[in-house]
Amino acid sequence: MVNKKKPFLVLCPMAGLTDSPFRQLCREWGADRVYSEMISVDALFYKFKKNEEFYRFQPAERPVVLQLFGHKPKLFFEATKKLAESAYRPDGFDINFGCPAKKVVHTGNGVALMRKPELAREIVAATILAADKVPVSIKIRAGNGDMTALKFLESLADLSWKTVMIHGRTYEQGFAGKADWSLAKQIKKIYPDKEVIVNGGIMTPEDAYAAWQESEADGLGLGQGIIGKPWLFAQIKDYFETKKYADLNLEQIKTVARYHLQALVEDKGESSIIILRKHLAWYFKGFPGAAQWRDKLVRVSTVKEVLDVLDGMND
Ligand SMILES: Cc1cc2nc3c(=O)[nH]c(=O)nc-3n(C[C@H](O)[C@H](O)[C@H](O)COP(=O)(O)O)c2cc1C
Repeated sequence: MVNKKKPFLVLCPMAGLTDSPFRQLCREWGADRVYSEMISVDALFYKFKKNEEFYRFQPAERPVVLQLFGHKPKLFFEATKKLAESAYRPDGFDINFGCPAKKVVHTGNGVALMRKPELAREIVAATILAADKVPVSIKIRAGNGDMTALKFLESLADLSWKTVMIHGRTYEQGFAGKADWSLAKQIKKIYPDKEVIVNGGIMTPEDAYAAWQESEADGLGLGQGIIGKPWLFAQIKDYFETKKYADLNLEQIKTVARYHLQALVEDKGESSIIILRKHLAWYFKGFPGAAQWRDKLVRVSTVKEVLDVLDGMND
């Protein structure tokens, strides 16, 4: 293997999940870089302050990348400029060329832009121009119809974006099926000066190792594998060092849940606890008492209720 340097680990952007509290948790557990949920450039352009909860972050989250979506170059320019000049100047801006959700694609955003390389080019150029030296990255899929990742990148090759995250599944594959990790290797070969992050289907430390071997990527992007399991970052690091990793016991997961609770309440207030319900249900999946705890966890509304349910859980 040419690339011996261990890959850095990235928390992928996930709408509805990778908010500031969850990103803090992932940084605690070993994520080397965290991405925000996708943020609409239209929303930022028209109502910047009102959308603060999508772009604000804590210093401890750095390096933090804010991911933008939309399809109008002018709005990418304006939104990026506002963020770069704000108190929340991030460590990176990312452009979403991969989202397959119907409402995103039907309005010409996300992966739809892979079919419009000229417009995509304008968007990347506008973002770089407004970013004021903050590095710009792009997130793409293996392909969309007859547009392949490699062809798409060709049209952006001369622009000074720094990083590409390649989700090795096509638009048609959605979120299932095997991701092609070898694409990242092909990209790195063609663009050795760009940073390449491989993404798709990394659910375990063993997957992470295989993805790295197959792609020789600079970084590994983790999405669904991290849902309910932010400690997977630490397990991957252990596995890369020692070929071993340990699962968390119930008490350790309770500590994760309490940390998440505190970070969430500090960020959004106690009325936001409803957001925590799904995370709590995922954290304890697989334990013998899980079904019974889940019934209680999905109803919690106050800090006290969360702590009471956690205190009442036993092996
Ligand atoms: C619930 C959910 C929300 C997502 N939201 C975004 C998003 O906002 N922006 C984006 O570029 N990708 C988004 N993705 C895609 C992930 O970043 C990632 O590329 C994809 O899930 C493949 O990686 P995985 O197989 O590790 O999950 C989302 C995925 C999931 C499951």
